[in-house]
Amino acid sequence: MQSAGWVMVRYDQGCSMISTELAEWFNARWFGEMGAIDGQDVAFIADLIAQHRPRNVVEIGCASGMSSCILAALMSSAGGGTLNSFDLMEHYYVNPEKPVGYLLAEAPPHPGVSVTVNRGKTCLDVAGQIDGQIDLCFIDAAHKHPWPLIDTLGVLPLMKPGGIIIHHDLQMFRTAQGNAYANGPKMVLALAPPATRIYPDDASQARGREVMKSRKISHNIFALRVPETRRAFAAQLCEGFYFGWDKQSYQLVPSDFAMRFSTFLEEHYGPYVGQAWAEGVRRYSTPVESPPLPRVGSLPRRILRRISGR
Ligand SMILES: C[S@@+](CC[C@H](N)C(=O)[O-])C[C@H]1O[C@@H](n2cnc3c(N)ncnc32)[C@H](O)[C@@H]1O
Repeated sequence: MQSAGWVMVRYDQGCSMISTELAEWFNARWFGEMGAIDGQDVAFIADLIAQHRPRNVVEIGCASGMSSCILAALMSSAGGGTLNSFDLMEHYYVNPEKPVGYLLAEAPPHPGVSVTVNRGKTCLDVAGQIDGQIDLCFIDAAHKHPWPLIDTLGVLPLMKPGGIIIHHDLQMFRTAQGNAYANGPKMVLALAPPATRIYPDDASQARGREVMKSRKISHNIFALRVPETRRAFAAQLCEGFYFGWDKQSYQLVPSDFAMRFSTFLEEHYGPYVGQAWAEGVRRYSTPVESPPLPRVGSLPRRILRRISGR
């Protein structure tokens, strides 16, 4: 990418750059409610891309396409490659008049990078779309536990050992508004062996905040380095299925997806992982049967209205 200037981003083995043009492009389009990565997240992703120079990149959760545009521009500066982005929806959830990935039509220049948006698709569709092993996967889709775990296990067999899986929205477990919280990314981090974890360093977070628009929260992103033994890694991660699924997440795991995922897990990881999923589905994915409504007249109308939600 041609640019008038660069913002230096250092990391332990060298340094990467975010061009001032990319920072300006981002600042002109980013706003807090768009559900996208912020400037601090971009600094962390820029570090990882400059360090690992991934050629084959997958994204789960495209939405407006903001993160896809950033990934493409950063990959271009690091040698180019292929970006495949997947999203369950056809339309951008914040503004359904726009298609998923609409920002790619005005993306910053990304020579040497081919970008494909796969709409109406999940992690289970990745294998049918990509060629070769994945060097870097950015997961930023549904955040309620167990979705980030599902997405991680869904791409893990396709990942190159030593490859990088990035998760966004780590801090959503703190959200205090009703059921808006999401424990998914935190659960994945807690289950991953410490040796696999990569955190943003404080310096790169601060640099992101200085030059690119950011939310007030920090350390909202982390990455995992995929070990050589992916099956053993999956066996460690899958224990998360036994722990309480976030409220409402069962509504987002349709039974046909649950069955497909079950077959996928057995096929790639064997019965230990498959059993963890089956037990999670048994415990948490069946909606609790509503108690029978009392006969009209046996309770005051005020209480009847409250329990029937009318
Ligand atoms: C937070 S937004 C992604 C933001 C985007 N990564 C960015 O930074 O610009 C989450 C997206 O994930 C999608 N999504 C939700 N559940 C999904 C699933 N199971 N598989 C794929 N995409 C999913 C939603 O439709 C939504 O567009």
